[in-house]
Amino acid sequence: MTKHVVVTGGAGFIGSNIADAYIERGWRVTIIDNLSSGDRRNINPGAAFHQLDIRDAAAADLIRALKPDVINHHAAQMDVRKSVEDPAADADVNVVGSLRILEAAVQTAVKRFVFASTGGAIYGEPVEGAQDESHPTAPLSPYGCAKLAVEHYLHYYRVVHGLSSVALRYANVYGPRQSVHGEAGVVAIFAGRLIDFLSNGLSNGLSNGQPPTINGSGTQTRDFVYIDDVVAANLAASDAGWQGEYNVGTGVETSVNELYASLASIAGADIPAAHGPAKEGEQLRSVLDGSRLRKLAALPERTPLRDGLTKTFAWLRDEGRTR
Ligand SMILES: NC(=O)c1ccc[n+]([C@@H]2O[C@H](COP(=O)([O-])OP(=O)(O)OC[C@H]3O[C@@H](n4cnc5c(N)ncnc54)[C@H](O)[C@@H]3O)[C@@H](O)[C@H]2O)c1
Repeated sequence: MTKHVVVTGGAGFIGSNIADAYIERGWRVTIIDNLSSGDRRNINPGAAFHQLDIRDAAAADLIRALKPDVINHHAAQMDVRKSVEDPAADADVNVVGSLRILEAAVQTAVKRFVFASTGGAIYGEPVEGAQDESHPTAPLSPYGCAKLAVEHYLHYYRVVHGLSSVALRYANVYGPRQSVHGEAGVVAIFAGRLIDFLSNGLSNGLSNGQPPTINGSGTQTRDFVYIDDVVAANLAASDAGWQGEYNVGTGVETSVNELYASLASIAGADIPAAHGPAKEGEQLRSVLDGSRLRKLAALPERTPLRDGLTKTFAWLRDEGRTR
């Protein structure tokens, strides 16, 4: 029988790539998204789309009426800085909104609930090397607190209401459809700037005629995981019975300077980046050990950074989504 999945946030970067993959597998897909940061162009025409806010009763009503097999919950306020400016507004979407969807999931006896969580923002600075799932959780932002809170709710709904669920703790995801707006997508932002620079020159494409700007020294590190690897983890998690929290990361730490150098080389542009002031409170290091899930779900080896960056750069250039 055809499986039916509701993807919240399915007009966004990650959710839309996941929706495509379910459709390719022959699943029926319904997308719930309020388009606050998502983009209509991302929505697969093979999916049913409902422009709804996850906090609205109408979203829960829809889930109760549809009775899907799986809910894949990606809708979120995902800007860490905004969460610092207004923690209550962040929690309204990321905690209360998630609870509305979880309540509907229990009421309609959904078979599996997949939640987009975060690694870096939940663990805080690494105590030593790559953080595995046993690393202490010490969120340093309201966004991280909200994601961790939902993980606790998942535990509650699992034990008390029997809801089968998994939280996927992502590293820094990058790839086609990531927005060049906002603060999270450093790959998309740098690539977009470089493409504009090459096509329009200094006077047109770049604000103040400046090359891409790195916040601070650029020695801060991140774990960049390609979207295809994240999609594969979601598909595996949707079919499986295992529960709990799993990292989706590469175990490879890349500095922002190294990232920029790789993108500039892919662009064939010999343009040194500018350096701006460091962002206050920015995490210095982030790297996730994703081996537990990779072994458990027999996932393919991670996409090498250079390959993923090359595909992302080509997509942004060909689609012209650089602004
Ligand atoms: N991008 C990353 O590196 C990363 C890392 C860790 C976790 N995540 C998580 O993955 C998920 C998807 O992130 P993304 O990078 O694709 O971001 P995104 O902004 O592209 O996608 C989020 C989607 O949710 C929708 N949305 C937001 N608030 C909503 C609401 N109240 N009701 C309905 N829809 C709403 C937006 O319109 C958007 O389409 C988020 O939960 C995010 O916290 C992302």
